[in-house]
Amino acid sequence: MQAILLVGGFGTRLRPLTLTTPKQMLPVLHRPMIEHVVCGLSRHGVDRVVLALGYGDEAFRAAYPDGRCAGVELCCVVESEPLDTAGAVRFAHTAAGMDDSAGPFLVANGDVITDLDVGEMLRLHRVAGAEATVHLIEVDDPSRYGVVVTDPDGRVGAFVEKPPPPAPSRWINAGTYLMEPSVIGRIDGGRRVSVEREVFPAMAAAGTLWALRHNTYWIDAGTPETYLQAQLDLLDGRRGPAAAGVSPAAVLDAGAVVERSVVMAGAAVGEGAMVRGSAVGVNAVIEAGAQVLDSVVGRAATVGRGARVTNRTLVGEGVAVPPGQALSGARVPEAA
Ligand code: GDD
Ligand code: MG
Repeated sequence: MQAILLVGGFGTRLRPLTLTTPKQMLPVLHRPMIEHVVCGLSRHGVDRVVLALGYGDEAFRAAYPDGRCAGVELCCVVESEPLDTAGAVRFAHTAAGMDDSAGPFLVANGDVITDLDVGEMLRLHRVAGAEATVHLIEVDDPSRYGVVVTDPDGRVGAFVEKPPPPAPSRWINAGTYLMEPSVIGRIDGGRRVSVEREVFPAMAAAGTLWALRHNTYWIDAGTPETYLQAQLDLLDGRRGPAAAGVSPAAVLDAGAVVERSVVMAGAAVGEGAMVRGSAVGVNAVIEAGAQVLDSVVGRAATVGRGARVTNRTLVGEGVAVPPGQALSGARVPEAA
């Protein structure tokens, strides 16, 4: 099975972290986000992944120079300008020379980490004779997602991207699709086309789109809150055995307190400093007496003596938070 991974967005909701590193190359625990995604796909029989790249493409090529990621063959294609989700699928399908006779292929949003059983999705897809099948997850607040209404068999009657409340359903597009090659013929070339706003609504109207309701581990790690949550889930053992957060190559002062956090290689936490519910990047420094609570400190950033970084603050790569400064829910530097 081949998969197209959509990884060409600007990651605006994670700025300033994404000003220097594209979203799917940001670390989740100690590995880039994309490796968690590719690992999940490879467990379910995906052996070739086409990366639909745009913004920040060099970072992916540099990380996987031999064209392999988590044991899977990678094929990199780069849009010269963003084509949106469907435009990117069409471009990647053609540029990677994907063979129509190979049957359905997978498409996944590159920021979705999930334990979806692709085999189960494929069975429904085949039995239904679907042209495309979407994975659905039930959430409390559907407003920031694609909302999907199905009949009892799973045929999609309506697909509405980020509708104003009240949403017609709590089942949302979880961002993994199976597509028959005929879907490519539905996507115009040479312009931006959205899977969610054009292609799937048209297929729902035509009755050729199906959905698998499958509540399993799932997170879209593309916001400050969920980027942090994806890492805490691994620490808390919500996906297999609990993972260790503190790298053996991090330096923690004996008088530092680190709780339920990721501290990456080369990072240092000083005397009397506290890190809780947070992620501290490679080579970052948390100086004596500083506090980092429920926040992300980027690679090689410094939180000065006695500073307080709290409430989902994002500190960008290489940034120095001055001693004593208090930041809550902030982005430094303030994102453009
Ligand atoms: N190659 C390429 N080109 N990739 C793109 C482009 C583009 O022009 N635009 C976005 N992407 C990639 C992003 O990098 C990301 O991995 C994926 O497409 C989805 O974009 P997001 O920006 O993360 O979308 P979202 O989270 O607001 O909404 C999407 O995901 C939700 C589930 O997590 C939609 O698919 C929703 O319907 C869905 O519910
Ligand atoms: Mg997303």
